[in-house]
Amino acid sequence: MDMCDSQKQMEAGGGGDGDMRLGRLEFLAMNNPLRRLVQKHVEFRIFKNQLQKRDIHLEDGVIMDAGCGSGYGTELIVNEYHPSHVIAFDYMPEQVRLAQRRGLNVEFLVGDLRGIECESSTCDAVFIFGVLHHIAEWKTALCEVARVLKPGGVLLFDEPRYLFTWGQLEAGTKSAGMDILEVQTLFFHYFHAYLCQKRFKAPAQRPPA
Ligand SMILES: C[S@@+](CC[C@H](N)C(=O)[O-])C[C@H]1O[C@@H](n2cnc3c(N)ncnc32)[C@H](O)[C@@H]1O
Repeated sequence: MDMCDSQKQMEAGGGGDGDMRLGRLEFLAMNNPLRRLVQKHVEFRIFKNQLQKRDIHLEDGVIMDAGCGSGYGTELIVNEYHPSHVIAFDYMPEQVRLAQRRGLNVEFLVGDLRGIECESSTCDAVFIFGVLHHIAEWKTALCEVARVLKPGGVLLFDEPRYLFTWGQLEAGTKSAGMDILEVQTLFFHYFHAYLCQKRFKAPAQRPPA
């Protein structure tokens, strides 16, 4: 059994809904013009720079926006990279309905990062704009992201320091089978933005007990 199998087993059945559904205030905070400005000019700009610096191109690739909310980030991704296929999902049906209204050529779905409905090794890139801190089983979510990425595929995610320390988040990312290529801190270290890459080799097996 690899690290991710045992992680999923440990976290299975825990958590439930927890903080995954946004409260009324957070829903409003997420779906307004100020949030869109920050997402476009801060978060997405950081991700674009991280990719450019490493000469990583996503044009014509298969891209996932996990926890897409109202789909604004998805729209930025589509307009920037013109991917061949985009899958975007969110746990809250009301968010997915907002995203579907954007009229994008995107497969918008209700879904759960703890069990992504997607074949293994299909995505060139996964974007996660501030979602893991809502998920008690965030290590399982990272394992799921690693599963759907192609070997060498990239994960771009940003999170506030909430629910985990940076050390825990980085250890969880690595044990899911991804290398951290770059970390950028923002908002006085309260947020980190990561560029990660799924390893080409399978993660090390645990030695038999
Ligand atoms: C802070 S909002 C960010 C939304 C969007 N990524 C954005 O940047 O506007 C967090 C989102 O994560 C979604 N979410 C929470 N838990 C999730 C899960 N297990 N799977 C998928 N989405 C989840 C929530 O419904 C919410 O839309």
